[in-house]
Amino acid sequence: MRIHDHPILGPLPSVREVKLLFNGRPIMAREGEPIAAALVAAGVWESHCSRKAGEPRGPFCMIGRCTDCVMVVNGIPNVRTCITPVEEGMGVETQVGRGEMKHAEG
Ligand code: FES
Repeated sequence: MRIHDHPILGPLPSVREVKLLFNGRPIMAREGEPIAAALVAAGVWESHCSRKAGEPRGPFCMIGRCTDCVMVVNGIPNVRTCITPVEEGMGVETQVGRGEMKHAEG
């Protein structure tokens, strides 16, 4: 859910829409917005499972301080998605524990 016409800030500026893949599922996002914001707008609140208890965690501070939003982005774990901008075609996955680095084959 997005606010398209804010009562104080006015209408949302138009930007290019791009597609990212969340756990293999295509999600449309606004180019350059934080990944976490795009996912929340699409109804996705869980970014990773905690290391010890395996409990679901999701974005909290939205300013890059708490690390509750870390996910695997383009195969790289522990990316703070609240301060990482969306790019066309990027792969975003729910992280389990500390996450695993995925190496390119070849
Ligand atoms: S939500 Fe706190 S670091 Fe991203």
